[in-house]
Amino acid sequence: MTNDPIPGIHDGAASVSLQEVSKVYRTGLGVEVRALDSVTLEIQAGQAVAIAGPSGSGKSTLLHVIGAMDSPDAGTITVAGQELTTLGESERTTFRSRIGFVFQRFHLLPALSALDNVAAPLLPLKVDFDRHERARDLLAAVGLAGRERDLPSQLSGGEQQRVAIARALVNTPRLLLADEPTGNLDSHTGSEVMGLLLELQRNRALTLLIATHDTSLATKCERVVHLLDGRLIDEEHAE
Ligand SMILES: Nc1ncnc2c1ncn2[C@@H]1O[C@H](COP(=O)(O)OP(=O)(O)O)[C@@H](O)[C@H]1O
Ligand SMILES: [Mg+2]
Repeated sequence: MTNDPIPGIHDGAASVSLQEVSKVYRTGLGVEVRALDSVTLEIQAGQAVAIAGPSGSGKSTLLHVIGAMDSPDAGTITVAGQELTTLGESERTTFRSRIGFVFQRFHLLPALSALDNVAAPLLPLKVDFDRHERARDLLAAVGLAGRERDLPSQLSGGEQQRVAIARALVNTPRLLLADEPTGNLDSHTGSEVMGLLLELQRNRALTLLIATHDTSLATKCERVVHLLDGRLIDEEHAE
């Protein structure tokens, strides 16, 4: 892992710009699924944006192409001033390491304590700070002070997602992508986790994109964009 800076990504929250982005999946029998259909979207640095839409509308695909986990077939994506299509493979890896991801199923390592799960992304990196001190600070920031030694199996679903959120922040990302982060939680816990993500976005110079099919949670974000069959359909701005 290199320490090469991606311009802009650590200088403040990242802006995100998509110009006519399309992604087509081809399945075995030559059937084409247009997962993203000419999506044009401007997200300002520091915004909290919900990507709303029913299952299969392209929400995950949108987050994957913005996070450079997948490449679009057409169009351009610019994050913090960096156009992703111009990056080589090692630059894409560096870019990904500077973005925070939160998933529906937490993806914690079951044999590691909460503290070690949070610190894990830092292990391959040379850093000039104490890894465990940073992990401890982040666990406190997500409301889990005192739970550092607990294994994931000793934590509730909501607590596990808080650990996953702390882990996503350990590399000080300026863009946080959350894919159905409340999808495995009851509605009360899901609402708390949503509140935590928005609090972190406001306090830590983060741009936050949350994919969700839950419209009541989506409207807690300052901006909601709607996807249907891979197309952006309309947009509401909260007051
Ligand atoms: N790897 C893949 N191969 C083939 N089709 C896929 C793949 N990933 C997603 N799709 C299809 O693309 C469409 C959008 O999927 P997705 O982005 O996962 O939607 P959402 O997250 O909104 O449920 C769906 O029709 C889905 O079946
Ligand atoms: Mg999805």
